[in-house]
Amino acid sequence: MQQYRLNDDLTGRVALVTGGSRGIGRAVCLALAAHGAAVAVHYRGQAEAANEVVGLIAEGGGKALAVQADLSEPGAAAFLVEQVAANLGPVDILVNNAGAMTHAAVVDMSDEQWEESMALNLGAAFRCARACIPAMKARQWGRIINVTSQAAYTGSANHAHYAAAKAGLLGLTFSLAKELATSGITVNAVAPGRIVTELLVSLSPGREQEWLAQTPMRRFGRPEEAAAAIVFLATESASYITGANLNVNGGQLMG
Ligand SMILES: NC(=O)c1ccc[n+]([C@@H]2O[C@H](COP(=O)([O-])OP(=O)(O)OC[C@H]3O[C@@H](n4cnc5c(N)ncnc54)[C@H](OP(=O)(O)O)[C@@H]3O)[C@@H](O)[C@H]2O)c1
Repeated sequence: MQQYRLNDDLTGRVALVTGGSRGIGRAVCLALAAHGAAVAVHYRGQAEAANEVVGLIAEGGGKALAVQADLSEPGAAAFLVEQVAANLGPVDILVNNAGAMTHAAVVDMSDEQWEESMALNLGAAFRCARACIPAMKARQWGRIINVTSQAAYTGSANHAHYAAAKAGLLGLTFSLAKELATSGITVNAVAPGRIVTELLVSLSPGREQEWLAQTPMRRFGRPEEAAAAIVFLATESASYITGANLNVNGGQLMG
């Protein structure tokens, strides 16, 4: 019966989680470490939060490292991946999770707002993947998991830049999955619905009841519930899944 058990042991794997200091990324770091991976906890500004995640992993007997980078800067991704390789080893599991959102209707949106959103929510995933792929190819094993959003499918008024970047992230996922299909590297996306994090809380005042009414489960998700899908896609058991998008949304959008 052994071959029918999930193989979710990530011992010996090195993971890089962008935006690992808070919210969904924090839960992903803790979950990957709980499954045995050494984890690079990336952050942009909140060193204290990232160090807390590293401390929790160390307390549990795991290995982790906090690494800083502003991923909206073009050269930052390559430098980040180099730092992780130098300190933990080459990246086996890349979770492109860092993301942020500003608010503006398209008619009021500046070029800077549009470009900043593309640089972080889409460009950073491209650059981090590009930096990680050569070492993954050399070892014929890798996992790239891109955190997109329901907004990629539904659109989001006053967040066209974010929705367009997240839809672009799906195109990147599917294209990379094809490019890397024979290299032992899978590339998948996870699309959270409404998950309780600082990002959601900043958007929600006055909208909770409307959002709950749109969600068949009538509750918001927990970061651990999004992390579980991401960890599954990182495991050996998910070896035949590539180019997929996994919704984690309480039934908000099905299919
Ligand atoms: N929460 C939801 O309901 C929801 C729904 C759909 C999709 N998502 C997606 O899930 C991912 C995680 O979201 P979350 O809710 O956990 O967000 P969050 O709590 O706001 O955390 C965002 C993370 O991204 C990092 N970050 C922000 N700007 C950055 C930059 N310029 N360069 C590098 N890192 C940056 C932050 O680092 P610092 O802490 O150092 O600032 C933080 O670790 C995002 O891609 C988001 O779009 C979330």
